[in-house]
Amino acid sequence: MNWFSAFLRSTVGAKLAVAVTGILMFLFLIMHLSGNLLVFAGQDAINTYSQNLRRLGPLLWIARVGLLVSVIAHVILTIRLTRQNAAARQVRYAIHKPQVSSLASRAMIVSGLIVMVFIFFHLAHLTFGVVFPDHFALRETVTNLGQTGSAAVADRQDVYGMMVAGFKNPMVAGFYVLALVLLGMHLAHGISSVFQTLGVNHPKYNGVLRKSGPALATVIILGFISIPLAILFGAVGA
Ligand code: HEM
Repeated sequence: MNWFSAFLRSTVGAKLAVAVTGILMFLFLIMHLSGNLLVFAGQDAINTYSQNLRRLGPLLWIARVGLLVSVIAHVILTIRLTRQNAAARQVRYAIHKPQVSSLASRAMIVSGLIVMVFIFFHLAHLTFGVVFPDHFALRETVTNLGQTGSAAVADRQDVYGMMVAGFKNPMVAGFYVLALVLLGMHLAHGISSVFQTLGVNHPKYNGVLRKSGPALATVIILGFISIPLAILFGAVGA
């Protein structure tokens, strides 16, 4: 594994790892959004989805660990790259004003760290039930008709009820919207940078590639934001 740590210590290797971990987190976000949008299809749809996710067992844990490793590597490597850039720039541009690129990367660090705070809150809220334990404890009673027609009654976690109870609180919905806007800004710049890092460029498509970051980020973030807003204003869960 020596070659791997040497690779990660090189600037090119670190940039590539930031890009790959960013892509993995982006894929998670798309899947997470697709699942969460089921809240618009009603209680049964999203609760069944959540129940099925948990039934994946070890596969779910592999995905969770992969996601966690990606987040940690992404944060550590970006902070290291930004420090290296700043150190190199102090020597070369001692008498210049801050460059546009250094402002952009500083904005990436700040928005990224605020998104991290959001993720901690989000996990405490919806995954560990620390923030509102009474919401987390909500259960939905489900009745399954067996092949013989006999009814089996069971209950499962009410993710729908938990989301509705959480986002009816304007402070919680407002915090989510604010954090999601910052995540959108982070994504907009990040997606465009990934193409640069991976060397995807062609004079014919560079304009489209540059715009794809903000465009994709806007669609994803509007999708996420629609959930707390729909609940807050009573379109869902009224
Ligand atoms: C309106 C926006 C969002 C809603 C309504 C939402 C909803 C949820 C819910 C209900 C869960 C628990 C799932 C379950 O236990 O079945 C969850 C878990 C999670 N969410 Fe979100 N989420 C949102 C945005 C985000 C964003 C923007 C991120 C990342 C930046 C994120 C990252 C996560 C992670 C990492 C988990 C833990 C997954 C796991 O335990 O396997 N979520 N989310």
